[in-house]
Amino acid sequence: MSPSTGRADDMAAEAATLRFSLIDEPELGDEGYRLRINGQNVSIHAQTEQGHVWALQTLRQLASCTAVPAGSAPRTLPGVAVTDVPRLPWRGVLVDVARWYQPLSFLLGMVDRLAMHKFNVLHLHLTDDQGWRFEVSRYPRLAEIGGFRAESSSGHLDEGRFDGTRHGGYYTQKELRILVSYAAARGVQVMPELDLPGHMQAAVSAYPGLGNRPDVQLKVRAAWGISPHILNTRDTTLDFMRHVLDELVDVFPFDYIHLGGDEIPLDEWRSSTEARQRVNDEGLNGAAALASWWITTMGRHLQEHGRKFAAWDDQLEVGLPREALIFAWQSAARVGYALARGHEVVAVPEQFVYLDRAETDSPREPTAIDGPLPLSQVYDYEPVPAGAEGRVLGSQGMLWAEYLPRPSLVDWRAFPRLTAIAERCWSGGGRKREYMAALPHHLLRLTSMGVRYNTLAATSGERKSV
Ligand code: ACM
Repeated sequence: MSPSTGRADDMAAEAATLRFSLIDEPELGDEGYRLRINGQNVSIHAQTEQGHVWALQTLRQLASCTAVPAGSAPRTLPGVAVTDVPRLPWRGVLVDVARWYQPLSFLLGMVDRLAMHKFNVLHLHLTDDQGWRFEVSRYPRLAEIGGFRAESSSGHLDEGRFDGTRHGGYYTQKELRILVSYAAARGVQVMPELDLPGHMQAAVSAYPGLGNRPDVQLKVRAAWGISPHILNTRDTTLDFMRHVLDELVDVFPFDYIHLGGDEIPLDEWRSSTEARQRVNDEGLNGAAALASWWITTMGRHLQEHGRKFAAWDDQLEVGLPREALIFAWQSAARVGYALARGHEVVAVPEQFVYLDRAETDSPREPTAIDGPLPLSQVYDYEPVPAGAEGRVLGSQGMLWAEYLPRPSLVDWRAFPRLTAIAERCWSGGGRKREYMAALPHHLLRLTSMGVRYNTLAATSGERKSV
């Protein structure tokens, strides 16, 4: 009992009941629920435990609607009868811990924030040029060397400045298992991403034999931006990454593993006789096809584990197997493009859901990669192209973290824009006025959770103009 509730015998106790039931009601699907609050009775019906979990989040929000100061009258819940079913089955948030290591406690807190908004996937970007964060027992140097860099970009990348401070860290498999079970208990699945065969400078620094110049000892990349140093095409490197994936699937039980496949500079492959030989041996159409060959080869390995694989949309032109789940990031049009090629798609166009962009154009915004991307524009993004209802798996908010070295900055960029993405994913659009009207109250809830959201837009007029 919390201190503010007083001693039990001070109160005229009246029993209330909270009843959960699992029912057979197909229109509720895997995540929907019916919630009734009537007098002293609260009942929650769903087809799954997941539905119960989301109903409890709604109950929690309703409880905080009747805001009364602590120590005054008890909170009462409004009478309600709602049937609530999500529009999109995949409602995710990418968290980039490769650019800046954040402690496990940060990730657990993110899971709480996600669950509160009924997001059901935490997309964990675990590796990149600037850091490798996943402990691999067979290859300890990946985390112990690849997890640390001598310094980091300071200010905007374009300024070419560095902070002169060593940075790093990684998650043990034990910690990640804690994260996975903590998230699962809150209805959130964790999808790990190993970004390959590009964005791999940290791995190549740890094991130079993975790279195209094994005689050169690289450092973990300090500058933001894209490294030219990518994986080579040797059988030994494929086997190495298969072993890494074997450990990854052991830690992360989710159906999907993300294999990356974005932004791969081809210079190293173009000047490598080994890579050219691989192109010939596999009958590929030039060096550009080696990237999708890499993803496909690793994807097949995941399928042998009974898993599915995901990739960024960069390899669509060359082609990926239909079974690849595509993350369409380069533009909104890429969603339709991937659908037309027979893929399942998660819609994450950078122009609308990349929350590393500043929300406002205020000079008081902390340094951001770009911007502004106002809340209104985020809300207005419709992830399902006309005529494709039911064919887009979902959407995500994307917290790329080059410019987010501290948890408080992640909150600042994430909120309130993540609430708009949550709303669009769960309820669809067409309720912007109601959404904006409810926002101030929701911001109070976020404050009470300790979320330090962006306050600049509140005074900019943007939120008042809807
Ligand atoms: C990406 O933003 N490079 C997926």
